Amino acid sequence: MVASPHGGVLIDRLCRGREGEERLKEAESLPSWRISKRLLSDVECIATGVYSPLQGFLGEEDYLSVRDRMRLVDGTLWSLPVTLPVEENDARRVREGDQVALRGPDGWVYAVMEVSSLYRVDRVREAEVVFGTQDLKHPGVARLFKASPLYAGGPIRMLRVPDHGPFSGNWMEPSQTRRIFEQRGWKRVVGFQTRNPVHRAHEYIQKAALETVDGLFFNPLVGETKSDDIPAGIRLESYRAILDHYYPRERVLFGVYPAAMRYAGPREAVFHALVRKNYGCTHFIVGRDHAGVGDYYGTYDAQHIFSRFKDEELGITPLFFEHSFYCRSCRGMASRKTCPHPPEDHVTLSGTRVREMLKKGVTPPPEFSRPEVIRVLIRGLKDQETICR
Ligand code: ADX
Repeated sequence: MVASPHGGVLIDRLCRGREGEERLKEAESLPSWRISKRLLSDVECIATGVYSPLQGFLGEEDYLSVRDRMRLVDGTLWSLPVTLPVEENDARRVREGDQVALRGPDGWVYAVMEVSSLYRVDRVREAEVVFGTQDLKHPGVARLFKASPLYAGGPIRMLRVPDHGPFSGNWMEPSQTRRIFEQRGWKRVVGFQTRNPVHRAHEYIQKAALETVDGLFFNPLVGETKSDDIPAGIRLESYRAILDHYYPRERVLFGVYPAAMRYAGPREAVFHALVRKNYGCTHFIVGRDHAGVGDYYGTYDAQHIFSRFKDEELGITPLFFEHSFYCRSCRGMASRKTCPHPPEDHVTLSGTRVREMLKKGVTPPPEFSRPEVIRVLIRGLKDQETICR
């Protein structure tokens, strides 16, 4: 049995076929708001049940409850506010109870929302509580303060699905992944989140987890990330390369996760786990500084937070991993838990250092990353530079 969706029911707010087309025509006459690509990815996650039990963007009561208690008003565990900020001018044209069409950056209508709540928030408090800092150098905090403090909440219905471009082949809704897990007879499935290319440490913790379960759901995030993270389009090819060369096909399902990174560390780790439960995973990997950025969170804060919740309310088992590395004396991957040798023997590289190396076309050692991955990344970053010039 794959995991039950969070809240018990897999949400489906996507109008397909004829009904969708008709509702799209009606939506053209509604007042409309233009939303960003990142908000559109939230719309899609809500509509396809990735964010079950949410049926729309949070209204004021749920927002406050999630912010302050990490729970929806009904008590269901939920660790990050999923909100829709609106500009004052846009909000003025709408009253609570109205329907609004949500247009993507390209101007097309993608969804309608019934605005059940229009409310003003305290962004300082949100920053402090959700991100643990008010520092504008934190990418999540910077984005929060750039957005309007006026939020709109209410159920949505998605009427058009965005073009997923190069990701189409690996785009999977929770209803599909659940079916595939069942068809493959996987009872215990571990989910893996990443916003980075897969290095040896990632591979090590994935495979260590896979040793004890039936399947691995390799689920990299492809929504918006901060500008110095490696773009998802370039990562995509690197994932295909490493999967082709180093993973048993019949034990891995590769599907992308559409949402944007929040960089909320511990709270986002819980959010990431709940989302993977909706995809049908029974287990979820949380390693070092999960969803962290800079030095805002302690190395294992994103693991400690799970002890605040009961197993039943999480409904997915987090698998914690120590900081892993290649040890020259062990001649293999290890962590402090399994390796007795001093740090000088360990091959570790920071993300920043690796990006610098890749941009210069320098290959990190094979103990750090598979050469097949590096080749794709160097080529991808070079092409990107040529295009941007
Ligand atoms: S994240 O922002 O998407 O969480 P990243 O892509 O760096 O970050 O990591 C993906 C997962 O691998 C996270 O669970 C993270 O904690 C874990 N991880 C990354 N590097 C290591 C490492 N060297 N040792 C152990 N776990 C790691």
